[in-house]
Amino acid sequence: MLAYLLAALAGVVLVLTVGTIIFAVLMMRGWMKALRRAVEEVRRGAQGVHLQLGGSSIDREIHKLLRSAEQVTFTSQIEWTPKSLQEVLQSVLPEAEVLVLSNREPYIHNTSEAGIVVQRPASGLVSALEPIMRACGGTWIAHGSGSADRETVDDNDRIGVPESTPAYTLRRIWISEEEQDGYYYGFANEGLWPLCHIVFVRPTFRSSDWQMYRQINQRFADAVVAEARTEDPVVLVQDYHFALAPRMIRERLPKATIITFWHIPWPNAETFSICPWKAEIIEGMLGSTIVGFHTQFHCNNFIEGVDRFVESRIDREVQAVSLGGHETGVRAYPISIEWPPREVEKLPAPAECRSGIISQFELTKGTRLIVGVERFDYTKGILDRMRALDALLLRNPAWRDRVAFIQVAAPTRSKLSSYSKLRAEAEALAAEINERHHGRQPVMHLITRHYEPSDVFRLFRGADACVVSSLHDGMNLVAKEFVSSREDNAGVLILSSFTGASRELSEALIVNPYDSEEMASAMELALTMPIEEQAERMKLMRQQVKEHNVYRWAGAMLVDAARSRTRERVLGLASKARHGVKPI
Ligand code: F6P
Repeated sequence: MLAYLLAALAGVVLVLTVGTIIFAVLMMRGWMKALRRAVEEVRRGAQGVHLQLGGSSIDREIHKLLRSAEQVTFTSQIEWTPKSLQEVLQSVLPEAEVLVLSNREPYIHNTSEAGIVVQRPASGLVSALEPIMRACGGTWIAHGSGSADRETVDDNDRIGVPESTPAYTLRRIWISEEEQDGYYYGFANEGLWPLCHIVFVRPTFRSSDWQMYRQINQRFADAVVAEARTEDPVVLVQDYHFALAPRMIRERLPKATIITFWHIPWPNAETFSICPWKAEIIEGMLGSTIVGFHTQFHCNNFIEGVDRFVESRIDREVQAVSLGGHETGVRAYPISIEWPPREVEKLPAPAECRSGIISQFELTKGTRLIVGVERFDYTKGILDRMRALDALLLRNPAWRDRVAFIQVAAPTRSKLSSYSKLRAEAEALAAEINERHHGRQPVMHLITRHYEPSDVFRLFRGADACVVSSLHDGMNLVAKEFVSSREDNAGVLILSSFTGASRELSEALIVNPYDSEEMASAMELALTMPIEEQAERMKLMRQQVKEHNVYRWAGAMLVDAARSRTRERVLGLASKARHGVKPI
C-alpha cells in the first residue's frame, strides 16, 4: 500500500515538475513576445510609421539586450542555494549593487554588565534577508536601535557584519525617541499593523504620526541615495515601515530597480479605505519597479485598492499598474527560510534536545512537549492556543501530568497598551490554567523573554508538536523553521489557516485559531499521531520548504527585476531610435 502511494506520489511530482518547466518556458516565450511587440510599438511611434530594425548601433544594442533577456533563468528549474543565487545575480544583474532598506537591523549591539553584547532580533524579515545578504553582499540600511549601536559603527555609521567574517555592510540610521514614537509605534504599529492584519484591534491614525512617518521615510530614502555608488542600484525596500520610500528613491534615482516587499497581509479595499492617507501610501509604493506580497490574494487586494483610490492604468493580464508613465509589477513571492538552516547543523540530536528541555523545565521523563515561539503580538493567537490547551485538559484530564506546553513569547512594542495588555492577560491565563489543572507539575510554561535562534531551534527539535495559531499572518516563518529543524521527520505542526504558510504546508494539521475546541482536537491528534504518519507528513513539508527556500524567494524577485530592467532599457533605446537620437 505504502509502495503504491509512494509511486503515485512520485508520478504526481513528475507531472508537476514537467508542467512547471513547460509553464516557465511558455511564460518566458510570452514575455519575450510581449517585449518585442512593445519595442515595435515604440518604434512605430504615434504616427504609425513602421521603422525596420536596421544595422544602426541602437538596433544592435536592442538585439543584444533581447538576446541577453532570452537567457534569463527559469527560476523553477534551479536548485536554490547561496551559490546559485549569487550566480543568478551575476548573470541577470551583472555588477548590480544591492541595497536593503528595513526598519529592524540584523545585528543589535547592546550594553550589558558583561560589556557589549550582540543580539539577533526575533524577526521574520531579518531571518529571511540575512542569508540573502550573506550570499550577495551589499549594504543593509536599518534603524540603529541598540544601546551600544553608536559605539560600534565607524565615522560613516557603518559596520561590517557578521563581525567574525564580514559579508556585507550594515549602515545604521539614527531616530530620536519622539520620531520613533510617531513613525514606528504610532503610524506603523498602531495604524498600518492592525489595519493590514484585521484581528479586531482598532487602527489609530494621528496626523502627527503620519508627519513623522513621512520624515523618517525621507531620511531612509536619502540614505539609499547617499550609499548608492551607481545610478541604477537594486534596492530591496522591506515592509510596512517604508510605504513612501520607493517613490522618494525613484525621484532621485530614476534608473534604480526598486523591489518593495510587504511582509504583512494587504487588506481588501473596503478595509483599507479607512486609512486617511490611503492614496499617498499606494502612490508611494508605486514608485517601485515591483511590489511583492506573500500571496496572490494580497496582490489582488492591492490592485483592488489601486483601482479604487488612485488614478492609474491597470493591466490585469500582466498584473501591472502605470502611474505617471512609470510601470509597477505586482507579484506574489512566498517568503521562506534558508536551507539547510545554519542553526540546526550546530545542535545535538532531537532526543538530546528533548532531554535537555525536560531537565531545564523540571518535567517528569516521558512528558509530551508542545511548543510555541513568537513575538508577544496580538496577531499570533497566543491566548487562543492557551485556551485550546485548557479545553483539551477539561475534555480529557488524563493529559494533565503527561503534557507540557512551553510558550516562548519575546517582548515586543511593549510601549503600546495593546501589547502590554496582551502580556498581562496571557500571564493571568497561564496562572489560571496551571491552577485549574494542578497536578504533579505545571502544564503551561510561559517564557516572556527573547530566545536566541539556537535556543529556539533546540526547542523545536525536542518537541512533539509546534503550534502556530496566528489570527492572521502574511507568511509565518516559525512554521517553516520548525519543519526545517526536524531531519528526524518527527513532530507535528499545528498551523492556522490564516497564515500564508498554510497554503504551502498542507500536511500540517490546519486549524481555525478562533475555534478552541477544534484546536484542542488538533493538539490531541498531534500527541497521539503514529510516528509513521508524522514522518509521511513531515517529509512532504520538508521537501516543500527545501525547494521553496529563501534563495528561491530572492532569486524569483531578482530575475523579475532583471526582466523589468531589460524592458525599460530596450524601450528607452527604441524610443531614442524613433526620435533619431544617438545612444550614448
Ligand atoms: O511580519 C513582518 C515583520 O516585519 C517581521 O519581520 C517581524 O516579525 C515584525 O514584522 C516586525 O517586528 P518589529 O516591530 O519588532 O521589527
